[in-house]
Amino acid sequence: MSTQLATAATVATNADFLPLQGTDYVEFYVGNAKQAAHFYKTAFGFQSLAYAGPETGVKDRASYAIRQEKLTFVFTTPLRAGNAIADHVYKHGDGVKMLALRVEDATSAWEETTKRGARSYMEPHKMQDDDGEVVMSGIYTYGETVHLFIERRNYKGAFMPGYRAWKSNYNPTPTGLQYVDHCVGNVGWNQMNKWVKFYEEVMGFRNILSFDDNDISTEYSALMSKVMSNGNGFVKFPINEPAEGKKKSQVEEYLEFYDGEGCQHVALATNNIVETVTALRDRGVEFLQVPTSYYDELESRVGKIDEDVTPLKELGILVDRDDEGYLLQIFTKPVEDRPTLFFEIIQRKGAKSFGKGNFKALFEAIEREQELRGNL
Ligand code: FE2
Repeated sequence: MSTQLATAATVATNADFLPLQGTDYVEFYVGNAKQAAHFYKTAFGFQSLAYAGPETGVKDRASYAIRQEKLTFVFTTPLRAGNAIADHVYKHGDGVKMLALRVEDATSAWEETTKRGARSYMEPHKMQDDDGEVVMSGIYTYGETVHLFIERRNYKGAFMPGYRAWKSNYNPTPTGLQYVDHCVGNVGWNQMNKWVKFYEEVMGFRNILSFDDNDISTEYSALMSKVMSNGNGFVKFPINEPAEGKKKSQVEEYLEFYDGEGCQHVALATNNIVETVTALRDRGVEFLQVPTSYYDELESRVGKIDEDVTPLKELGILVDRDDEGYLLQIFTKPVEDRPTLFFEIIQRKGAKSFGKGNFKALFEAIEREQELRGNL
């Protein structure tokens, strides 16, 4: 082998075996997709995008895709009992089923990950219609959650084959949400390192941050968390597990009500958190509230920030700083009746971290909600 070839081979071995271009969409399995899509359009400012169901040749389900900037959500509901989607909704309630990742090659993504031990959810298969083709494959991650790999070969349709464009007379104003910043998984006792290893070995991710129960504890409860990132940083998956405390932690409450491991929150990025949160609140989205004393020492803790503190305090937006800048964030209450999935709204101003300085105030706010539900 010539030197040149040997070098090329070395580069190939070190190359990212699972190059990801970002989140393609998030799919939720829900009890009533028609109403869920309406709720997310109304409350979060999404637009109708595409529909699949009996009218488009899909007999067992109905799916509604909605979009805002680079964010695409899909809501899927079963049309009958006694199938995998119906069982999923019965067991878990409404929740995230698919975290779909955009790839250049869905076949290679499936082969590289299953070769490294991933459990297959769906072998690579090509879907075609008059607008082009999409190749899709998938693997399981924690719980019954799935990572789909989506390869779009210049697909020109509304969303993907099987769907038709969904035009609606109801098009609420957007709220400024831009893209998925990160998705957090809650896993069971002593399972965090297993899933860290999965993301490292099976998907080629790196552990970029770790928090132990000293970082994330209140008087009553604790949790541990490790943040996994893919090579280019476009896809970040923090993994939480409960830790021993005097009372039941938020992760335990989630595991009990979701009946297993699953996605705890999806963080949605905005370029103007004050405008976005004002709009969301006006449309009925409920947020966790920290005590107003949080703002007394804000500037001494995080230094100078561009935003006025008054609207931050009024809306309950939290601020944290790291070596690279600062971030603003806020968390919704769970968006279902089960205390399971919620959303984070985040605006990054240089910071690449996750708001460690806010953990205590935030988790105390969650515990006050848990207490009201009788689950602390
Ligand atoms: Fe988060």
